[in-house]
Amino acid sequence: MTEQKATNVHWHEGEVSRADRGQLLKQKGATLWFTGLSGSGKSTVAVALEKVLYAQGRLAYRLDGDNVRLGINKNLGFSAEDRAENIRRIGEIAKLFVDAGVIVLSSFVSPYRADRDLVRKLHEDAGMDFIEVYVDVPLAEAEKRDPKGLYKKARAGQIKNFTGIDDPYEAPEKPELVLPSHQMSLEQEVEALLKLLQARGILPA
Ligand code: ADX
Repeated sequence: MTEQKATNVHWHEGEVSRADRGQLLKQKGATLWFTGLSGSGKSTVAVALEKVLYAQGRLAYRLDGDNVRLGINKNLGFSAEDRAENIRRIGEIAKLFVDAGVIVLSSFVSPYRADRDLVRKLHEDAGMDFIEVYVDVPLAEAEKRDPKGLYKKARAGQIKNFTGIDDPYEAPEKPELVLPSHQMSLEQEVEALLKLLQARGILPA
């Protein structure tokens, strides 16, 4: 648990509520949390879903590992401790977007169950939807794709603590959805996600 350092700070409510903003946008803010190995297809499906949602007049916003690590989390590496802080900060950022009424599409390896569960709790304690989507491909498949050439480097010992090679990946136990991206088309994945968003009342049916 991260220590609360500042004292005498209190949440300040405005006069426009989360529900008001949801009505304005005709959607309910929520976090879709994609987790899986590097190269599993998390970002690919998030990009495709964002495009379809936008075409339908829905506001989504992607939070992505590589992008966030170039900015707000540039001071974090890949130790278990830094990954935990990476995910905690993303979780808090996602919450702000959800409060704004946005559908967050978050793509981080997020290999530790405890880190993901903390973000789930942050959302659920605030009455927000947290939908965990496990993009599940075998390591061999992710390694075959190797879109950034990182598995090759990790195998050669040029990257240490690489998830799946010499660092763990803890698969979700009860994800809301599993997407085996090596056995589904991108269209099928997007379809499954849209269906889930409708079933959860995040998008109108
Ligand atoms: S997380 O573990 O903290 O959730 P995050 O999703 O932000 O990771 O970043 C993972 C991305 O950083 C990978 O897709 C890959 O491109 C790159 N990367 C660089 N080093 C590592 C590493 N040691 N383990 C995993 N990914 C790494």
